[in-house]
Amino acid sequence: MVAIRALLASLIARDSAAPPIVRATSSVVAPVFPADSFLAESSLGFSYHATLSLGADAKVNGGSGNTVQVLLDTGASADWVVWAGCTESVCSGHNVYHPSQQHFRNLSIHESLVYGDGGPANTISIWRVDDTVTFGSVSIPSTPFGAADSLPSSGESLDGNFGMARAYCGGHLCSKYPGFVETMYESGIIKAPALSFYQLAPDDVVPSGVQSSVAIGGVDRNKYIGTMDWFPLTDDSMWIIPNGLRYVTPGNNAPIVDATKKFTHTSLTLDTGDPELLGLPTNDWKTLVNLVGAQGPDSNGNYLFPCDATMTLNFRGTQNRDYTFTLVDPTTAKGNYCSPAANDAGNTKNWIMGSPFFDHYYTVWYFGDRGVHSTIGFGQKNLGASAAQSTPVIGYA
Ligand SMILES: *[C@@H]1O[C@H](CO)[C@@H](O)[C@H](O)[C@H]1NC(C)=O
Repeated sequence: MVAIRALLASLIARDSAAPPIVRATSSVVAPVFPADSFLAESSLGFSYHATLSLGADAKVNGGSGNTVQVLLDTGASADWVVWAGCTESVCSGHNVYHPSQQHFRNLSIHESLVYGDGGPANTISIWRVDDTVTFGSVSIPSTPFGAADSLPSSGESLDGNFGMARAYCGGHLCSKYPGFVETMYESGIIKAPALSFYQLAPDDVVPSGVQSSVAIGGVDRNKYIGTMDWFPLTDDSMWIIPNGLRYVTPGNNAPIVDATKKFTHTSLTLDTGDPELLGLPTNDWKTLVNLVGAQGPDSNGNYLFPCDATMTLNFRGTQNRDYTFTLVDPTTAKGNYCSPAANDAGNTKNWIMGSPFFDHYYTVWYFGDRGVHSTIGFGQKNLGASAAQSTPVIGYA
């Protein structure tokens, strides 16, 4: 998977010349960051993997500061981490969560979490607990998460998965178990309900000292260039952009096509847990195959796209910015045709954008609050030496 991710990530064109796009008025309001905003930072591993210190291990509880490694998964709502009480062999070898003396509360609710297509290979069982979460320099004494007592039979490479879906939908509470970013904000521990990723892509070249990082509490002025483009979101708890504009350049010198109304599914889900660049529901995938004049399918059902086929998305953000990327993997060229970089995501409701896309931008996920709408912002990543430092944005980003 690592090799494939690296390849896909290298495909995205950066700031390519804007095609002739009809401008729409944005319906999103950019967030304002208060004067006392500060950033709590943590290092970020490959693919949105972050470290947290939990329960008895948290230094604020007198622990050693030992950490667990979890995916900060914007495409999931549940949080889980391997619990010390898990007796399965697949739990050994993990860093595990030890309940604290001070703040542990067992809600005595046992639940199954089902990922992907379900089945034993995708099912995890958890006890709902409250306990301490430390992220970088900040801690919340008590916040809900799941203590896993059973993992899939095939095991898990990470110690846990922390869903970053929102608990506020259109300004109203819509979840029983808000995540730690939101509970920290509600408790006044951080000053803005924001999660910001500076994830270096495999092909990024940066001066020494510049590393991938994740911050909560605000936006880091040192991690991006220019202004943030803030996108409207639906009132769903997932991060879903409605009604983006979609343009396709079919390749082979054919002119750009406004394909917005040619596709059936209007919304796009942003999912850091998805390792694919862009997935389309099957009927929209077929539309795309026709639009670019793909060759195929071959006996395995695979298509080839013209190597110069591109797509441009515009999310009607505050900057009305266009996001253009190649639709193929150029290293697979056979004549003028290449393997596609987008894929058929099957029977899904929305288009799905995955981590290889986000890797190319500084992304800020603003959770909103009671009466305050959520938004997500993309900025051009700063790859210069100044990205090694951080400065919280005050006011507008
Ligand atoms: C929570 O309580 C139940 C009994 O109600 C117990 O079986 C379970 O092991 C406890 N879970 C944790 C994480 O302590």
